[in-house]
Amino acid sequence: MTSGGDASGMNAAVRSVVRGAISYELKVYGVKQGHKGLIENNFIPLHSESVSNIIQKGGTFLQSARSKEFLTEAGQKIAVENLKNKEIDGLIVIGGDGSLRGANILLKKYNIPTIGIPGSIDNDIYGTVRSIGVDTALNRIIEMVDIINDTASSHDRTFLVEVMGRKCGYLALMSAISSGAEAVLIPEVPFNVEKIIKRIKKRYEEGKTRSIIIVAEGVGSAYDFGKVFAMIGGFDTRITVLGHIQRGGSPTHFDRMLATRMGAEAVKGFLEDKAGTMTALQDSKINLVDLDTVLSKKKELDHDMIKFAEQLCR
Ligand code: F6P
Repeated sequence: MTSGGDASGMNAAVRSVVRGAISYELKVYGVKQGHKGLIENNFIPLHSESVSNIIQKGGTFLQSARSKEFLTEAGQKIAVENLKNKEIDGLIVIGGDGSLRGANILLKKYNIPTIGIPGSIDNDIYGTVRSIGVDTALNRIIEMVDIINDTASSHDRTFLVEVMGRKCGYLALMSAISSGAEAVLIPEVPFNVEKIIKRIKKRYEEGKTRSIIIVAEGVGSAYDFGKVFAMIGGFDTRITVLGHIQRGGSPTHFDRMLATRMGAEAVKGFLEDKAGTMTALQDSKINLVDLDTVLSKKKELDHDMIKFAEQLCR
């Protein structure tokens, strides 16, 4: 099942799981709408043809939902009963932090073997270099920033571009470095807006024709920061909130391959009795890592990347 916010590449992961499992002569069901579907007994049999023509599609054909009912014991018990009635031997959950926590509850509390696959654009899941959907989101962000840059340069404007990521500044940091932004505001690094304004002012005086400031949604609204930049800096300021265009769309080659490799590894993990793990990209390899560890640790941003941004985003 896919759960939580959709991420590009989830379909490729489901395809890999289904076809990989079939190659071992396993029978496969898909759960529609994540935890909600578990509770509503919304299972569909999946065959090789069921996952035809989906590797290139964004979103998730199994659909997803954020279920409040699954957070309750009553909801969980119904889900477990449905899984048992269907004689499901194991569940692969593709999703972000909340979804992986749900998978762990099913295993630890109800003994349903589960394996997680990290799928979320935020890249906030510990243990894996990348989650499915991050690369596609980053490519979309830099494509949009490049477009905004044309207008910004033509009008000497200062654009504040808000990107997603919840409390995590990964998307903002990486897109700022790779789009040539002048500044980036992320929750992990304290910043002084007045200092940034001063620096940008100086750069305009030196001949810059535009400024792009990437704002991670975790630090607050780009609209609020925009007002400060206009008021204190006197800049001709415009705001763009990229929103959900970061989540959908055709997955990049990287996300298709990551999803395909993780799907295959999850199936292999079941056959080797490795429930309670999550597939993870580590040193170019896909490994299975302990889910308890993943859920108990916070993924930190790479210090080298923060340094890069400090040196390059000016
Ligand atoms: O977790 C993925 C994410 O896209 C976050 O970056 C964002 O804050 C949130 O989901 C948006 O959630 P929703 O689609 O429910 O509005």
